[in-house]
Amino acid sequence: MEALVLTDIKKLEVKEIDRPNVLPDEVLIHTAFAGICGTDHALYAGLPGSTDAVPPIVLGHENSGVVAEVGDAVTNVKVGDRVTVDPNIYCGQCKFCRTGRPELCENLSAVGVTRDGGFADYFTAPASVVYQIPDNVSLKSASVVEPISCAVHGIKLLKVSPYQKALVIGDGFMGELFVQLLQAYGIHQVDLAGIVDEKLAMNKEQFGVKNIFNTNKGDVVPAEEYDVVVEAVGMPQTQEEAIAAAARGVQVLMFGVGGPDAKFEMNTYDIFQKQLTIQGSFINPNSFEDSLALLSSGKLNVEPLMSHELDYKTVDDFVNGKLGVVSKAVVKVNGEEA
Ligand SMILES: NC(=O)c1ccc[n+]([C@@H]2O[C@H](COP(=O)([O-])OP(=O)(O)OC[C@H]3O[C@@H](n4cnc5c(N)ncnc54)[C@H](O)[C@@H]3O)[C@@H](O)[C@H]2O)c1
Ligand SMILES: [Zn+2]
Ligand SMILES: [Zn+2]
Repeated sequence: MEALVLTDIKKLEVKEIDRPNVLPDEVLIHTAFAGICGTDHALYAGLPGSTDAVPPIVLGHENSGVVAEVGDAVTNVKVGDRVTVDPNIYCGQCKFCRTGRPELCENLSAVGVTRDGGFADYFTAPASVVYQIPDNVSLKSASVVEPISCAVHGIKLLKVSPYQKALVIGDGFMGELFVQLLQAYGIHQVDLAGIVDEKLAMNKEQFGVKNIFNTNKGDVVPAEEYDVVVEAVGMPQTQEEAIAAAARGVQVLMFGVGGPDAKFEMNTYDIFQKQLTIQGSFINPNSFEDSLALLSSGKLNVEPLMSHELDYKTVDDFVNGKLGVVSKAVVKVNGEEA
């Protein structure tokens, strides 16, 4: 079968590889779509993602497809089911797994990071991380349930309430997901700060954002105004902007990821006098069912945000930043016909 293999750091090659064998507790999936994100950028460049990837490896931790074969011990899905895969596989044995915080697992492995993922005609995953897709959700939308679930996990770490006014900083795909999700979780007003006029306008016109700020063009985000602030960029400047926008007694979700050694400045009196909660968020435990329900109910609409459909050849242009403004790119492997 054909696969896009990371054969070395910064080297992606289309290769013929063997179709994987299925263990008793595993599922073989005929791939439909595989999303691509900043984690793939990092893994391509030899940096850690959720965990380390060692070439040769088939990337593709965001994916959807149709079950082609199941191992003898599998009971939750059958051949022909449309599915999506939570890439993160927790050990179930470490302190974090056994205290309800599996995302902090000391022995994390992941489909498309430590074992072959969705940039191939077929891939396998343990049945425990395979989820059926509701009939009214497309395979294309389902291929981004993994990043949706990261945002859902972030929101579940907050105390959200309808009275709150939220600010999302970041007009990338994650920021755009937060715009819709914060409203789906009941928050009555969401504002958005970004740098791309068209995306800011689209989120205001189609997705319920009240106020937009293009901070590259001189718009100023109001200080000490918001009850919830979500930082979804990962730069010191936007992290500092997030603290400044927070009102007293509120929560700041630091969702964006900077470089491994990046730092930002924080005034201790801000934290003390404003009694801020600064909440980190890592990956997406126990969130796939919520994400699929949000897609199926129409509370979340992702296809308008999915700007690029790539093939294996154009993935190289993506990781080298040659595609211009990308909201979300997915690789069409076998598409809706998978
Ligand atoms: N915590 C998690 O589990 C998790 C999961 C997925 C992604 N992330 C992180 O979330 C962040 C956003 O991811 P993404 O895929 O949306 O975007 P991205 O990493 O593709 O791009 C960053 C986005 O930020 C916007 N931006 C740049 N400068 C800005 C500024 N000054 N103000 C406002 N917006 C600005 C850009 O328009 C761009 O779309 C990244 O840092 C990513 O690593 C975290
Ligand atoms: Zn991803
Ligand atoms: Zn563990």
